[in-house]
Amino acid sequence: MMANLINGKEVSKNVKDRVKSETAEFINASGITPGLAVVIVGNDPASRVYVNSKKKACAEVGFNSYEYALPETTTQQELLELVEKLNNDPKVNGILCQLPLPSQIDENAVINAIKPEKDVDAFHPFNVGKIMIGEYSFLPCTPAGVMELIDSTGTDISGKNCVVIGRSNIVGKPMAMLLLHRNGTVTICHSRTRNLAEICRNADILVAAVGKANFVTGDMVKDGAVIIDVGMNRLENGKLCGDVNFEEVEKKASYITPVPGGVGPMTIAMLMKNTLTAAKLQNK
Ligand code: GUN
Repeated sequence: MMANLINGKEVSKNVKDRVKSETAEFINASGITPGLAVVIVGNDPASRVYVNSKKKACAEVGFNSYEYALPETTTQQELLELVEKLNNDPKVNGILCQLPLPSQIDENAVINAIKPEKDVDAFHPFNVGKIMIGEYSFLPCTPAGVMELIDSTGTDISGKNCVVIGRSNIVGKPMAMLLLHRNGTVTICHSRTRNLAEICRNADILVAAVGKANFVTGDMVKDGAVIIDVGMNRLENGKLCGDVNFEEVEKKASYITPVPGGVGPMTIAMLMKNTLTAAKLQNK
């Protein structure tokens, strides 16, 4: 049996269409156009691609976007001053500071400086804490996008074995929490995990967020599992490749996300959703 493809472009378009029509209604009712500030520091080519996609999505759904491109040599003080200015700018409803930041800047210091109500990435400890107790305004964009993709398959998560590979603050940890909120039985695997393949073989839903090309092989996957590949690995030949060995795993899975065209577009769609939520909360 060959797996069904989960079409991230299509699901993300549905989310963006919904945000677009709700944005038009919001602008009509309030006279306010939602605004997203997108901050990029330095010249990382991948970050540049992401930031361009985020600005393009803003235009698609009817938001204003404000780009702040700062040089690689920017000091922490300078970046914190910009964040403070954006915190106090009423035209800016969401602040997105593209990670990673250059090594002279402490990422946590910057995340902590963003006003929680403008933290559309949901990286601030206040928002992280709210997610943990299940009472939140914003969900982190990539895990929220993964939930939409799983839902698009019609899979009921309740009671299922869900395995997340990776424990980053951006993806793995919040991903596990969202699956838990939906009553999944969640296991988080990481670099020190013993019997990783065996644990993965028990997964009804497997989310790979490792950052290693082709890490999940066919023998690690249960027949009929739903496979979500968060990986974005650039190979030496320039090709983009996920964390999952697609050719092997598609022979066993019931559903699988491609890379590119799976999780990537969802992250940006959920950022749009968060930015509209932020604009509404700030203008109640
Ligand atoms: N770098 C990698 N993923 C993300 C993300 O979701 N948000 C931000 N701001 N930076 C990132």
